[in-house]
Amino acid sequence: MNPSELSSPVIPTEPVRWIHKDLTGLQALSKVELTLLLDTAAAFKSVGTRHIKKVPALRGKTLVNFFVEPSTRTRISFELAAERLSADVINMSATASSLTKGETLKDTALNLQALHADMIVLRHSSAGAAQFLAERLDASVVNAGDGSHEHPTQALLDAFTIREHKGRIEGLHVAIVGDILFSRVARSDIFALTRLGAKVTLVGPSTLVPAELKRLGVSISHDLDELLPELDVINLLRIQHERQRKEYFPSLGEYTSLFGLSKARAARLKPDCLVMHPGPINRGVEIDSDVADSSRSVILQQVTNGLAVRMAVLYLCNAARSGEWV
Ligand code: CP
Repeated sequence: MNPSELSSPVIPTEPVRWIHKDLTGLQALSKVELTLLLDTAAAFKSVGTRHIKKVPALRGKTLVNFFVEPSTRTRISFELAAERLSADVINMSATASSLTKGETLKDTALNLQALHADMIVLRHSSAGAAQFLAERLDASVVNAGDGSHEHPTQALLDAFTIREHKGRIEGLHVAIVGDILFSRVARSDIFALTRLGAKVTLVGPSTLVPAELKRLGVSISHDLDELLPELDVINLLRIQHERQRKEYFPSLGEYTSLFGLSKARAARLKPDCLVMHPGPINRGVEIDSDVADSSRSVILQQVTNGLAVRMAVLYLCNAARSGEWV
């Protein structure tokens, strides 16, 4: 083991520019702030290659991972990210909490803060839940997905993965395909990627990709086949049955025949076009199983990069709140 591994904390490039104790969404962030998040994540990614994968940045801090909706990737990677930063981590689910006895979200969070929680990572089915808490707590609040509103760390890891492979985001053509209407990932991706200079096209049936989304600075297409040869990145989204209150297309089979990334469609992509998916994937619906497992798929690399991105978010938000830049 190299002794320097123990004594060389990661220093973000210019921490003074990050002023937010919370991360509840990407809509209001500038290109400079997004780039700082990605650069800090790049520095933290190198920690994962060391013999000792921990840095002391959050030593003595307590993080509560509060997931009111199910999650695999986001919950585990926030937990790992906090542990790699040397924080104490408490995992909490809705069903095992006093929410089931009628306690409000605000009271629950105030009680966590009374127990000296420094940071709360919240996944919730209601849009705006993280912002609601951020405005009422001294603790940092990080949005791990709120209803159909935003999933900021997913979009950051998507942007990170694109930049890692392509060396840039500016000027790339990115298609986001599928259930845009109900997708918090799509909204956060749109905010991040357009601000970082990508051309973003939303693709899907008109019921799931309404024309008014153009006001977000994107193009809209209902014809995936005509777009395929010009894309640099294609990001497939899951159909979110749990948020849909009515049928938005005749059948899953018809959806797949028009918008699923089949092997035949994948063959029409540029050779270096990245295939992305935030997960969980529905094999054979939005993406063919062989395409999901192919060499052009970066789906599992997205998951790996989520760890570095979440370390960066926790590090920066904690430092902005406490004034402690390690
Ligand atoms: N992409 C994503 O948010 O996955 P999980 O729901 O498993 O966290």
